[in-house]
Amino acid sequence: MAALTNDGARTRVPLLAGNWKMNLDHLQAIAFVQKLAWSLKDARHDFASAEVAVFPPFTDIRSVQTLISADRLPLKFGAQDISAHDSGAYTGEISGAFLKALDCTYVIIGHSERRTLHNESDEQVAAKVTAAVKHGLVPVVCVGETAEDLEEHGPSAVPVAQLRVALAGLQAGTDVVVAYEPVWAIGSGQAATPEQAEQVAAALRSVVAELLGDETAAETRILYGGSVKANNIAGFMRQANVDGALVGGASLDVTEFSGIVRFQKHVGT
Ligand code: 13P
Repeated sequence: MAALTNDGARTRVPLLAGNWKMNLDHLQAIAFVQKLAWSLKDARHDFASAEVAVFPPFTDIRSVQTLISADRLPLKFGAQDISAHDSGAYTGEISGAFLKALDCTYVIIGHSERRTLHNESDEQVAAKVTAAVKHGLVPVVCVGETAEDLEEHGPSAVPVAQLRVALAGLQAGTDVVVAYEPVWAIGSGQAATPEQAEQVAAALRSVVAELLGDETAAETRILYGGSVKANNIAGFMRQANVDGALVGGASLDVTEFSGIVRFQKHVGT
């Protein structure tokens, strides 16, 4: 089940994901993705050993798709949210069918900003996860505790409870990514320690095992998110149960994000 075997070899391909949030319009997105691809190419980044994905705003996705496909860039992309519905009278919502038609691989679901600012419940998150899988998208399911939760319940209780509901409708073998993002670490400059991230990631992997079986749990990537930077990624990537990062602010800077993607240079594995 470990991301690192005893001899240090990885059993899951790490995923370094940039959640742009509401930043960069479609023209800025094109310039950014071009620069990112050049920077990683220059550095001879091995995409087979560390996958890279960007999550632009909805209005950028068509432009990003066109660029990635025309230039055959080895980058993946996804959306930051999805409707639980397929189509119909849901003004302002975006169907998973539309995202799939734009070649999205992933979709972020249940980000803490959506849970807080849009009152998304665990049940709504679960419905969106089901919709994503139905449309052939890989859900990146976000869970995490607030500072108050941490004080009251300890580090794992809230993310574990959130994940149980989010994954309840899935079957063994479903490709899903879990992102542990402590709310207190998001945009605060105060990242969790690698040991804290590992403790919760291990608990989340047990939830995946309980609901989807050991085999799926062994294949599921669990990311850490919250103030990840090029200078702290190595510590997280040394942990057995941390398989990558969901990066906010630092994913908007090509040099910084490239440094995160190239974590192997700092980790030495
Ligand atoms: P920061 O990296 O800016 O802390 O944001 C993390 C995040 O919310 C990614 O989804």
